[in-house]
Amino acid sequence: MTKLTVRDLPAEQLKGRRALVRVDFNVPLDEHHRVTDDTRIRAALPTLELLLDRGARVVLLSHLGRPKGKPEAKYSLEPVARRLRELMPRRDVCFVESTDTDEALKATTELKDGQVLLLENTRFLGGEETNDQRLARGLAQLGDLYVNDAFGAAHRAHASTEGVAHHLRPAVAGLLMEKELAYLQGALEKPQHPFVAVLGGSKISGKIDVIEALLPKVDALLIGGAMACTFYKAMGLETGTSLVEADRVEMAKELLDKAGSRLILPHDAMVAPDVKSAKGARPVQKEQIPRDMAMLDIGPRTAESYARAIASAKTVLWNGPMGVFETPPFDKGTRAIADAMAKATAQRVTTIVGGGDSAAAVEQFGLAARMSHVSTGGGASLEFLEGKTLPGVAALAEK
Ligand code: 3PG
Repeated sequence: MTKLTVRDLPAEQLKGRRALVRVDFNVPLDEHHRVTDDTRIRAALPTLELLLDRGARVVLLSHLGRPKGKPEAKYSLEPVARRLRELMPRRDVCFVESTDTDEALKATTELKDGQVLLLENTRFLGGEETNDQRLARGLAQLGDLYVNDAFGAAHRAHASTEGVAHHLRPAVAGLLMEKELAYLQGALEKPQHPFVAVLGGSKISGKIDVIEALLPKVDALLIGGAMACTFYKAMGLETGTSLVEADRVEMAKELLDKAGSRLILPHDAMVAPDVKSAKGARPVQKEQIPRDMAMLDIGPRTAESYARAIASAKTVLWNGPMGVFETPPFDKGTRAIADAMAKATAQRVTTIVGGGDSAAAVEQFGLAARMSHVSTGGGASLEFLEGKTLPGVAALAEK
C-alpha cells in the first residue's frame, strides 16, 4: 500500500478535528425504507471507530442509488442513519437532510469529539457526478481532513470521491479501502501459485478486459455462467436458446486461441426450457445442448472438477455467478464454487470474492465469513482487476 491511511495519522492530528469520510453506503432498501443488507455499513465501522477512538469528529458522505442530481425521497440516506445508529449504540449518530449548505457546515462545526454526522446523498447535488470543482471545494469545507473508505465508488471520479481530495489535506485511505486494495493487489501482483480465477456472469462483454488482464497471471481460468455460451458458439457448438452475445463471438475465438489450455470451459451444462421450468432441468454434455433449451448453470461434472481445481490452488479469485443462482436448482454450480472456496479458506488458501453478484451469492449461502475477503465493490473490483487506476485511490496522498 503506497497511500497514506488513517493508521498513519497520530491521535494529535485527529483529536477535536472533523474527519470527512467518504463511505459507500449504497445499500439496498425495502419498500418500508429499511436497509435489507447492511454489509457495506458494517464494513466501514472499523475506520469510524478508529477515528472516534482517536478523538475525531466524523462527518460522513455517501451516495445511494442513482438520483439525477436532485433530491428524491426514495434515495434519502435517512434509513441508513437509522441503521448506523443501531450498529453504533455507544455513539451519537446525527443526520442532516442536506450536504453542501450552510446548515450542513454549521452541523459539522457543532459536532463534539466522538460524534458522527451523516449528511444527505451526495448524488442529490448537481455537481457530484460531473466532479464540479466548486462543489468539491464546498465539500472540502465540511472537514479538516479527508478519508476515503468508499472502495465500491472509487472507480467514479466524482466530487465526493475524487475532486474533494485535491482541496482537503491530508487525504488518506480508510481501513476498508486499505484491506480491499491489499487483497486485490496481492492477487494481481504476488499471488501464491497455483492461482485459479473463476469468472462467471451472463456477459462476456463486461469481462473481456479482466480475462485479458488475468490470463498471463493465472494457472487456470475457469469460466461459468451464460458467458460460457459465447465461447461455445465460437467453438461451433449448438447453444440452443442460451444467452449468446453474437457480436462477441469473434473476440471469444481470439481469446480461446490466445489462452490455450489455461482457459477452461464447462464440460457440461444444466439446461431447461427457461428459468421458470425447474422441472424440465437436466444436465447435458456441452456438445448436446438441445436447440429449444438454454444453459442456466454449469453441470454437475463441471462443478466437481472446478471444486477440485479450487482445492488444489493457493490463491482463488472469483467474480460472477456460475448460473441463475437466485432460482434453484440453477444455484447448484454457484454453491459448489462457494462451498469449495469456503473449504479452501480453512486449508489456508487465500480466497477472494469480487463484489456484486458473487458477493451477494456467498452472502445468500451464509458463507461470506468463510472467505479470506469478500469485496464490497462490484464495478470497482472489476475495474481494478482489469488493471485500471481507480480515480478515488489515485487522488489520495502517497505515504
Ligand atoms: C456500487 O454499488 O457498485 C457502487 O456504490 C457504485 O454505484 P454506481 O454504480 O451507481 O456508481
